[in-house]
Amino acid sequence: MPGEKLSIRDLDLDGKWVFVRVDFNVPVSEGGVVDDTRIRAALPSIQMVCERGGRAVLASHLGRPKGKPAPEYSLRPAAERLASLLGRDVDFVEDCVGREVEKTVKSLLPGEVLLLENLRFHDGETKNDPRFAAMLAALADEYVNDAFGTAHRAHASTVGVPEALGRGAAGLLIEKELQALERVLRNPSRPLAAILGGAKVSDKIEVIENLLSLADSILLGGGMAFTFLKAEGKATGSSMLEEDRLELASELVRKAQDRGVGLLLPSDVRIAREIKAGTESMVVPVDAIPEGWMGLDIGPRTVEAFQREISAAGTILWNGPLGVFELDDFADGTIEIALAVAASSAYSLIGGGDSVSAVKKAGVTNQISHISTGGGASLEFLAGKKLPGIEALTERMQ
Ligand code: 3PG
Repeated sequence: MPGEKLSIRDLDLDGKWVFVRVDFNVPVSEGGVVDDTRIRAALPSIQMVCERGGRAVLASHLGRPKGKPAPEYSLRPAAERLASLLGRDVDFVEDCVGREVEKTVKSLLPGEVLLLENLRFHDGETKNDPRFAAMLAALADEYVNDAFGTAHRAHASTVGVPEALGRGAAGLLIEKELQALERVLRNPSRPLAAILGGAKVSDKIEVIENLLSLADSILLGGGMAFTFLKAEGKATGSSMLEEDRLELASELVRKAQDRGVGLLLPSDVRIAREIKAGTESMVVPVDAIPEGWMGLDIGPRTVEAFQREISAAGTILWNGPLGVFELDDFADGTIEIALAVAASSAYSLIGGGDSVSAVKKAGVTNQISHISTGGGASLEFLAGKKLPGIEALTERMQ
């Protein structure tokens, strides 16, 4: 909870070596960072370490390199982008532990920044190996976690290092993310409308269950809506379907009714025979999907119904696209909803990589109250779970 964990603001950083766990797991192509949102989001904490006379030792993972070095997962491009964003030099070392690393860390002067190579080049990271954690901890005096996107992982750099150092503080990004999530989940300005999309019901079950006791309405779209529609007895053609979740979908609908939560399903959809740009498509009511056709976007009547809920909401939470928005043919529903969220005066929080891309595609990023840098992490938080990377931080003495 914000305020309950020790904060980077509470630490005396002057002259200290500060291990900052950041989430620079960013898309890289041809040696360059394609989207630097996560690097920008970590700047305030890094700048605070420098301004307060600390020596910033930054560590992150990139991709899933399986415990051994893989050049395509090097963090060097992230170091270069960070340097240009900070407007100062950023040192880079080609490993994250070992003698060479220790030497470089030792030579840092107050206010200097060093980025270590990908933590996941060692399997001790994902295994949370205490020896690996101790080697990382030996590099610094203080530990700050600002990697919100990785807070749901119990890895050496998120859990083992603060344990080994005996204390750990939250960075400014983690504080901001938690404040935003808390604002939605505790005492939101009502009504609270939750928009949930994405391919599978199975990925969102716990989130839906948790939201059934918090939200006033849940607007369901994306592939997962078809399992709910099928459970209501509709013919869904060859739309995405999770047969083994039909019973669960009916149960969630019953729960929503019992609790007076408005669970809105699509009433019309855009259908096609295949997921392909330029393919023939049409809009039909959800009870008229012919065999061999699949629903790939919500239709205009559904958009209108969702828009009504969105414009009446005091708080909006959105996770997951409402159609196959990567293809322009099936992006209208998701884009219209992004525009409606942007136009609303409600507090709006968007989490999950795909919904964030949708908001970017709609060009309304600046009109959203908070865009989370964490996909998996924000989902787990919304499901009511505790995040190991947050739990590992020290409680603040009141
Ligand atoms: C993310 O992008 O969700 C985080 O960086 C975590 O990455 P991971 O799923 O590979 O642990």
